[in-house]
Amino acid sequence: MKLCVALDNPSAKENLELATKLKDFDIWLKVGFRAYIRDGANFLKELKKINPNFKIFLDLKLYDIPNTMADASEEIAKLDVDMFNVHASAGKEAMSTVMKRLESYPSRPLVIAVTALTSFTNETFTEIYNQDLASKATQFAKDTHESGMDGVVCSAFESMDIKNNTSKEFITLTPGIRPFGEDAGDQKRVADLVLAKKELVDFIVVGRPIYKSENPSEVVAKILSNI
Ligand code: C5P
Repeated sequence: MKLCVALDNPSAKENLELATKLKDFDIWLKVGFRAYIRDGANFLKELKKINPNFKIFLDLKLYDIPNTMADASEEIAKLDVDMFNVHASAGKEAMSTVMKRLESYPSRPLVIAVTALTSFTNETFTEIYNQDLASKATQFAKDTHESGMDGVVCSAFESMDIKNNTSKEFITLTPGIRPFGEDAGDQKRVADLVLAKKELVDFIVVGRPIYKSENPSEVVAKILSNI
């Protein structure tokens, strides 16, 4: 299991300071909307300068018509990031078009698709998708697998079921992780490390419990020694 730290701080300076504190750890860094919209591609280069071995997950959750998603994916592939994501609800045609377009990039980033956001409850999810969250998340995962993508973003609660319905190698990345039972914030389906391990999660994403901590490197060390 790998740890992916969400860089969701309010400024580039704070994110770069956090990355510097964590530079000796074997971790992934997640750059999301907030950081990328504000700080752009140059910020990714700054992170690699701190430690060229940092792996970067660009969490922009693409959702658009197939051709626009493929165009955007191609631009992302040129950014030298290690993983990015799309929404599975954009559909199989869009996901297959993305993967087809990336065929000409031999060292393409991993591509995963969001099944259900971890801030949904079953009720709020069903209002939009008209289907039970767990069964629809598994359906989205199957679509993602059949489209040739590498894995999915899901909650830890769905990881094992998704692997059983796709393949053991199909990546599951789970946000909403509160490693040792910390405050959930707006996340509804939170899981701790014990559950994530049991569910064979490949990547855990942890944001606030690390970047809001007084001592982020201590938290990261503790998480790494437990996974
Ligand atoms: O602070 P916290 O650990 O809740 O951060 C979780 C991170 O994962 C945030 O950056 C959030 O945008 C992201 N994320 C999520 N649920 C998803 C996909 C991404 O919480 N399904």
